[in-house]
Amino acid sequence: MNLNIAILPGDGIGPEITEQAVKVLEAIAQKFNHQFNFNYAEVGGAAIEKTGNPLPEETLNICKESDAILFGAIGDFKYDNDPDAKIRPEQGLLKLRKDLGLYANIRPTAAYEPLIHKSPIKEKVIKGTDFLIFRELTGGIYFGDKSTSADRRSAQDDCAYTAAEVDRITHLAFKKAKSRKRKLTLVDKANILETSRLWRRRAKEIAKEYPEVTLEFLFADTASMQLILNPRQFDVILTDNMFGDILSDEASVISGSIGLASSASIGDHYAMFEPVHGSFPKAKGKNVANPLATILSAAMLLEHFDLHEEAEALRQAVEKSIELQITTPDINSNEIHHTNDVGEFISDYIIDKKSSLYNAENIDLGQSTII
Ligand code: IPM
Ligand code: MG
Repeated sequence: MNLNIAILPGDGIGPEITEQAVKVLEAIAQKFNHQFNFNYAEVGGAAIEKTGNPLPEETLNICKESDAILFGAIGDFKYDNDPDAKIRPEQGLLKLRKDLGLYANIRPTAAYEPLIHKSPIKEKVIKGTDFLIFRELTGGIYFGDKSTSADRRSAQDDCAYTAAEVDRITHLAFKKAKSRKRKLTLVDKANILETSRLWRRRAKEIAKEYPEVTLEFLFADTASMQLILNPRQFDVILTDNMFGDILSDEASVISGSIGLASSASIGDHYAMFEPVHGSFPKAKGKNVANPLATILSAAMLLEHFDLHEEAEALRQAVEKSIELQITTPDINSNEIHHTNDVGEFISDYIIDKKSSLYNAENIDLGQSTII
């Protein structure tokens, strides 16, 4: 297959982690005889520095001309600590999601066997967890009208949804649930919010088209508790933009680190793959950031193009790196492995299992020729 992939490294650790994911995609291309072309473009703080715009027109065009987009991370202290900044890196990501119509953000959570003991949650609670969050990504409070009064003593963010916005992601979530454990949980605050009541009405209506799927409802506050108390009860969670943002960070604790949380942002015409985590500016350039979330997002990219065998090979290599503890400090306090060691091991393992394992042993002995 020939794929043009836009690479948007962004800020902070973004460039380091996307570099590893590109390496891994190159290994997949080599192993399975595909042609992947990578087109780099600026976004976020990096783009503001150069052009004054967090999403330059050129970047948007590169994305539109590509088959898929792989996104790193954006954000910087400089803007986080300045509530008055008019131009912010995050605007680049939000505009990208909106302009490309990426309305469904799919965020998987699974408990990795070798990491179960690393989670602050008890093993018996998280073992066997496997659910997906379908987060609506182009509506709600993120995109509603915003205002601050002239005296700057009051501010407002509107939350709005239309039935059409709710319906399209609800159908996707039902279809997915139908192919899995056939349970869909809608998370909202229907006891308080009008928008949530719209979500419930639409979900109930659409449920009639998917009689094999059980539809359940949970308030977001209860859901945040249930996610930790009994995560195995979930199969597919459907929720709005804001609740999805919050719950997916919480869910990452189950896997052992947010550095493992991957995602796919899907629309009718474009698809983007991005880690759930942020730009971790403190770690920028230190070669310690976990590249697995971006690498696993690349696996979602492969699956999007029905390259299932390739995605499986990638996932197996990731699992091997976790099993052998060729992982970064967030999930490995025993040995020191850097961001690029992880990317190298995974791409080597994809190409040639045997010699990568030999190299890995030598890395541990400090004798490898590749470090
Ligand atoms: C995410 C991030 C983004 C969001 C930020 C960086 C704008 O937290 O993808 O979850 O809030 O959607
Ligand atoms: Mg978030």
